[in-house]
Amino acid sequence: MKVLFVTSEMYPYAKAGGLGDVSFSLPRALKRLGVDIISAVPLYNFIDPKKHGIRHTGKWVGVYVNGGWYKFEILRKNNIFFFKNEELLKGSHVYGPAGWEYENSDIRFGSFCWAVAESLRKGIIDADTIHLNDWPTALIAVILKEIFGWDKKVILTIHNIAYQGIFDKEAIDRLALPSYLFNTDALEFWGRVNLLKGGIIYSDFITTVSSTYAEEILTQEYGYGLEGVLKRYRHKLRGILNGIDNEVWNPKKDPKIFENFSARDIDKKEKNKNILLKRFNINNADRPLFAFINRLTHQKGVELILESVEELSRLNAFFFFLGEGEYSNAFREIGNIYENIITKVSFDDALARQLYSSADFIMMPSFFEPCGLSHLIGMRYGCIPLVRETGGLADTVVDISEDKGYGITFKNPTKWEFLCAVKRAVELYHNKERLKKIRREVLKKDFSWKRFAREYLDLYNESYKTL
Ligand code: GLC
Repeated sequence: MKVLFVTSEMYPYAKAGGLGDVSFSLPRALKRLGVDIISAVPLYNFIDPKKHGIRHTGKWVGVYVNGGWYKFEILRKNNIFFFKNEELLKGSHVYGPAGWEYENSDIRFGSFCWAVAESLRKGIIDADTIHLNDWPTALIAVILKEIFGWDKKVILTIHNIAYQGIFDKEAIDRLALPSYLFNTDALEFWGRVNLLKGGIIYSDFITTVSSTYAEEILTQEYGYGLEGVLKRYRHKLRGILNGIDNEVWNPKKDPKIFENFSARDIDKKEKNKNILLKRFNINNADRPLFAFINRLTHQKGVELILESVEELSRLNAFFFFLGEGEYSNAFREIGNIYENIITKVSFDDALARQLYSSADFIMMPSFFEPCGLSHLIGMRYGCIPLVRETGGLADTVVDISEDKGYGITFKNPTKWEFLCAVKRAVELYHNKERLKKIRREVLKKDFSWKRFAREYLDLYNESYKTL
């Protein structure tokens, strides 16, 4: 069995969100399990091949899109194949500046899909199991199954169903697809073209990144219009939780944090906290520190935070927001107004690590959350999670009111339930004995890929057997 993992993001080359981390760590974890796996990624113009040691292979494929022929050069670094076309992959972002998508996204990613499919056809890349991720790669399922008529096994993982790759109906022509595919049992979606829908229909298996999210996307509230199609193909759908790379995230060895620590000397978190707060001209003063390290977008529940800001400012606690997104300005503003609210609008890896190692609580009040990684990383650094019970958050956090609970959860995305959870956390912070016990529970948890990569391996084996 040979697996090809196709993705539009991969850390450290190109990352817009959690998909970038998963595309880096999952193939590595699978490799450790003995899987013969290669990856394919677009070589966006902002990636500098020299800096990363990405080399020419001398190979290329031609694709026909938008009424013309384009040449994709294939480059390589170890097991990763990069597809380069300077004209189609321009711009300094993966999808577009925060909150926006490049106008030619159908061609940007559709051409990449054609290029990957062509290189499989030409034998430049060899694989019998193709693992796709999200809408930018979904068209590969349609091309391989419907246009090439191949029986390679295709698995599509949905990391976020809110993004589907929806375009006007002319996208069929622009992507050089047969016009009969514009029908409701293929790519048509309310008079438009939906690439994720095509991927769902033509893939052999669909996975998403937690069991709860796999259930949620079958409902109108979370399915973003695809619940009906998913219900029809429910037999192909399953949830596999994401893991984190325990080597990449390791408080014992992390060179970027102030004081390394492990479960045994968890008190060192306090030192990290003091140093970090001092850098921001704040005295620790025995107040809990809540961290939020995520994109500042609707999905992450930022409106709940903004609505509650007056109440948060009156609590005897610090709130630190690190991230970027549509709400960057609003967060900058609250950071300027309130003495106990700190905002840093950026994706700063070192600061994120320092914050994880300092914070008492990691917050994820998401409206929806397919899996969520920030709270898993936070737990690895001894932060107690405060999350809304949705998607992967519901599958990974147990409230302290339950036996062996190690987090604080709330059900409905309302200001009052959120504030109630924050207040419970503040109380817990002042009950030092209980706090210590719960921190120890948190640090005992294992959310590493070691556990979850095996489930992908089982799925690959299952699909390979039917080849
Ligand atoms: C998306 C989802 C997030 C998930 C990540 C990786 O970013 O929003 O919940 O953890 O993909 O699968």
